[in-house]
Amino acid sequence: MTYVTESNITDIVLDRWEAVPDQRFRRIMQSMIKHLHALVRDIEPTEQEWMAAIEWLTRTGKLSNEKRQEFVLASDVVGVSMLIDCINHRLSSEATPTTVTGPFHVHGSPNLPNGADIARGAPGEPCYIAGSVRNLDGKPIVGATLDIWQADGDGHYDAQHGGDEAWMRGVFRSDSTGAFVVQTVLPVPYSIPMDGPVGEIMARTKISPMRPSHIHFLINAPGHHQLITHLFKKSCPYIASDVVYGVKAPLISEFDLMPAGSVTPNGTIAHHAFWMLQYDFVLEPITEHASTKTSAAAQGCLAPGG
Ligand code: BEZ
Ligand code: FE
Repeated sequence: MTYVTESNITDIVLDRWEAVPDQRFRRIMQSMIKHLHALVRDIEPTEQEWMAAIEWLTRTGKLSNEKRQEFVLASDVVGVSMLIDCINHRLSSEATPTTVTGPFHVHGSPNLPNGADIARGAPGEPCYIAGSVRNLDGKPIVGATLDIWQADGDGHYDAQHGGDEAWMRGVFRSDSTGAFVVQTVLPVPYSIPMDGPVGEIMARTKISPMRPSHIHFLINAPGHHQLITHLFKKSCPYIASDVVYGVKAPLISEFDLMPAGSVTPNGTIAHHAFWMLQYDFVLEPITEHASTKTSAAAQGCLAPGG
């Protein structure tokens, strides 16, 4: 029998955790133990510091429920959500890249006809999004669903608004030419929730808690990889410092201010100035090769030592 010492305890624990029949679960647990022990050896926490960490995790758990997920927020602000997103969506460079879903997607948004207004009286400056859904060959994808959600002009999402009606969200369908049109308001930058344990930590840093102006999209088309992404407003001052690291170059888009009297994508003449965003989404087809690539990536993500 070997008894534990500071130097042998990691190996003894790893050896004990060999007794996990599921190979993938064993690999995950052993890697977690190895990295956790390395962290503790690196920072040598006092017992008070370790208790503070446990109390922080406890508060984070207590605040998390089906409406608010403080653990997801924690994973977002340290870049882990984006790393997992990158590992699981290694698409070809011509496809529109993915980014984090975020906590504000609501299932069951209303189906809306092309050109419909998701803002319907919400505060903000009028804005249209017009574009198309295409495949890697540039061919239109007909009947793709585009589940769209964003914050209103005051920076509030449906979950933060509190009414019964859907707020700033809807599901559209690409038409026979792959095109879609959405009427909305200009997205504005907003802060992540700072009133919980994640905010406590962020307040001890000089890191900006702001997300740059963006609109969320969840796009599905048969035979293609689902695309969950955002489009970001190029001139937003927080583009380079997104608190959740979600910005990728191809998602940075120009929003153009059109003067009153311009023709809207709905074919009407606008009485007031409006913002215009044009974007063509490119979906990657599901192939044998792509699914092998994805599972290889998933295998590698928790490889011990890597
Ligand atoms: C969002 O995009 O809505 C979001 C994403 C991550 C954390 C907070 C908000
Ligand atoms: Fe958002």
